[in-house]
Amino acid sequence: MRQKQDGSSSNLYPQQGEAGRVFIKSYGCQMNVYDADRIGDTLAVSGYVATDHLADADLVILNTCHIREKASEKVFSELGRLRDLKEQREMAGQGFRIVVAGCVAQAEGKEILRRQPAVDLVIGSQNYHRLPDLLSRAELFPGLVDNDFPVEDKFEHLPIPGPQRAALRGVSAFVTVQEGCDKFCTFCVVPYTRGAEASRPVQGILQEIEALVAFGVKEIVLTGQNVNAYSGAKVNGGFASLAELINLISNIKEVVRIRYTTSHPCDMQDDLIEAHRDIQKLMPNLHLPAQSGSDRILAAMNRNHTRADYLETIKKIRRVIPNITFTSDFIVGFPGETEDDFAETLSLVETVEYSDAFCFIYSPRPGTPAAALADAVPESVKKERLSRLQSLLEAKKAKFNDAALGETFEVLFEKPGRHEDQITGRSPFMHSVHVEASLSLIGVIADVEIIKCGSNSLHGRLALVGGSRQPREVNR
Ligand code: SAH
Ligand code: SF4
Ligand code: F3S
Repeated sequence: MRQKQDGSSSNLYPQQGEAGRVFIKSYGCQMNVYDADRIGDTLAVSGYVATDHLADADLVILNTCHIREKASEKVFSELGRLRDLKEQREMAGQGFRIVVAGCVAQAEGKEILRRQPAVDLVIGSQNYHRLPDLLSRAELFPGLVDNDFPVEDKFEHLPIPGPQRAALRGVSAFVTVQEGCDKFCTFCVVPYTRGAEASRPVQGILQEIEALVAFGVKEIVLTGQNVNAYSGAKVNGGFASLAELINLISNIKEVVRIRYTTSHPCDMQDDLIEAHRDIQKLMPNLHLPAQSGSDRILAAMNRNHTRADYLETIKKIRRVIPNITFTSDFIVGFPGETEDDFAETLSLVETVEYSDAFCFIYSPRPGTPAAALADAVPESVKKERLSRLQSLLEAKKAKFNDAALGETFEVLFEKPGRHEDQITGRSPFMHSVHVEASLSLIGVIADVEIIKCGSNSLHGRLALVGGSRQPREVNR
């Protein structure tokens, strides 16, 4: 035990039998969050214990995101703070190591060390299986960089999560099934930071999911930069589509819900649409980023579809699953976006009636084709468009939430709520629902009647079952 400054004892690393305490901070998308889980799994095998407190850690991993300038630059200010902490620790005779992982590590490599020499290791997004080995090497030679795209597949070398690691995932867990992107939208760094599109073989995915659900995970969220382009090798030859993969996952009894994200509008195949109709465990909510409603801007973005194509896809999906809800991402202020182009985006939102969406101000990224375009939209106009789009999306979300009043949904409870005696979960349509009920219902699906609607979440009560308010666990 170490003494804290206030004299109390702390269980600061190293405890007997531990290699160290690792604090991992993620900045990016679902794939980035998933990577943090797998990094933790890998380090657990080497004796590292995860901590949620920086103060307890002797190894810090910044799992970075390069998608917009803000996200990318945040890392360097964080590194400055970590350098100060490292100096303090070293003066006290304690070890402290800093690792930069993720998409900034992949894109910037050595440049990170130049800007912050206190960093011990820079590791790209395809090399996490090498982390234990690289950490040992960095102990002798700090300032290592490993950001090449390896010939071997990291997924084949990452350990399957054991009981403790699986339990840390909670009720809903991400599982990456596809990585990288070949689409090269002109604004986007992902094809450069994650490399070419590649799908994991079916067998490894099923094994991983079986390990997760054996220890408490109930919902599987399949992730990929273009998850609906999934085409993974099957054991007996051939390739499975995402719909086939979802069907195989739905046969695992302990999996109660399946979702997937992010889908590209050009890859919404018929079998996937039909899977929403035929597979009860597949939830009726789809994240289908549109980016813009203007054909001129969609072409300049190289999205490979028009506004009419996008709307036709939405219509086709709604014909098969009438109650499905859609969410999206939008970029405002792409180079050359006029007021008319922006009006087309607003009208797309009016037409589709999204239940929720993210919107971003365009951020020029080094090395992308759009970064070379003249950026004619003034900053003040970009901000004003962002706030108009946000207001419209908020109104759509409020309308979506208000329509839930009096409805009864199957809610999968995920965690304690913000207030005591409250638990929080999700409806099939991704509403966030709070209910006064026992913590023992976390991980259970129950029928919930919605009694109040807020702008961001709903309030409900357990539905009446045989005259009393009880959870009716829904078996699938
Ligand atoms: N593969 C997904 C998107 C992954 S990136 C797709 O094709 O839709 C997540 C979101 O970040 C994108 O949908 C986009 O809205 C936003 N984004 C990506 N690059 C950006 C940039 N340079 N500036 C602003 N937003 C960006
Ligand atoms: Fe980026 Fe476009 Fe690929 Fe999505 S489809 S990851 S936006 S390049
Ligand atoms: Fe960011 Fe990399 Fe994801 S750039 S959005 S963490 S793929």
